[in-house]
Amino acid sequence: MDPRLAANRLNWDDRVAIHTESEFYDVDGWLADAPGPPPEELAVLGDVAGKTLVHLQCHFGMDTLRWARVGAMVTGLDFSPAAIREATLLAQRAGLSESSTFVCSDVYDAPAALSDHRFDVVYVSLGALCWLPDVAAWGEVVARLLNPGGRLYLHDVHPFSATLDDEGEQVAYSYFTRPDQPIVGDYDTTYTDGAKLTSTETYEWIHPMGAVVESLISRGLVLDSLVEHDWTVFQQFPWLESDGSHRYFIPEGRPRIPLTFTVLAHAPG
Ligand SMILES: C[S@@+](CC[C@H](N)C(=O)[O-])C[C@H]1O[C@@H](n2cnc3c(N)ncnc32)[C@H](O)[C@@H]1O
Repeated sequence: MDPRLAANRLNWDDRVAIHTESEFYDVDGWLADAPGPPPEELAVLGDVAGKTLVHLQCHFGMDTLRWARVGAMVTGLDFSPAAIREATLLAQRAGLSESSTFVCSDVYDAPAALSDHRFDVVYVSLGALCWLPDVAAWGEVVARLLNPGGRLYLHDVHPFSATLDDEGEQVAYSYFTRPDQPIVGDYDTTYTDGAKLTSTETYEWIHPMGAVVESLISRGLVLDSLVEHDWTVFQQFPWLESDGSHRYFIPEGRPRIPLTFTVLAHAPG
């Protein structure tokens, strides 16, 4: 494995136990409330009952299992063995084992790890693309995983916001980066509450919006929509204000910049 991805995997393995215990993810509350997908995602993807959905970089499966609750047959894929163990356990606790499968694999090996199976939906949720050195190769994976007519739903951190420093005040990183120019991190905290990390080394990449779109259309996918949002779902910058429901907004008086984006695309046929 690419040593940078190996370091990232250790970091993510380390985060899993912290995240499953965190107030941020509130696993017990989630089990009690049994939420389905976010309404805006459901509105776009519509009735998924009986459809197959693969969630790339599924972490410990919370976002994946929401889709099982509305009838999809879901597969979550992540390269962290700890994440896949916890996702499988969470599916059991949620009574969703029958309609869910979790697979441990690097996203670049996903077609082989999933036995070249194709899906009605490829779903990618926040905090995914920054961990991948090559977005063009990611687009190829998405194209290989989709059934004819199948749809991609991607919601991720906006690459412009990723160029800002931790305070969100200055441009600190290049918008245009290359696979051999990762942003090297060394943080002993994660984005949730909880204990300190021991595996602190990380490698991240910024993928310009044009490169994300190009990765899909160059593989023959049809772009249906690209929407930029002035909100996100975590405290990316200290000045973001929460509405108390996992949404963070730009306060009045600050320039409104894009914080996340959504891409919807489909495979022809
Ligand atoms: C920010 S988390 C995704 C969080 C998810 N949206 C959620 O809220 O549960 C990013 C995930 O990407 C996974 N990941 C990072 N690089 C990967 C790779 N090359 N292949 C597969 N999974 C990867 C990590 O293990 C981690 O679970």
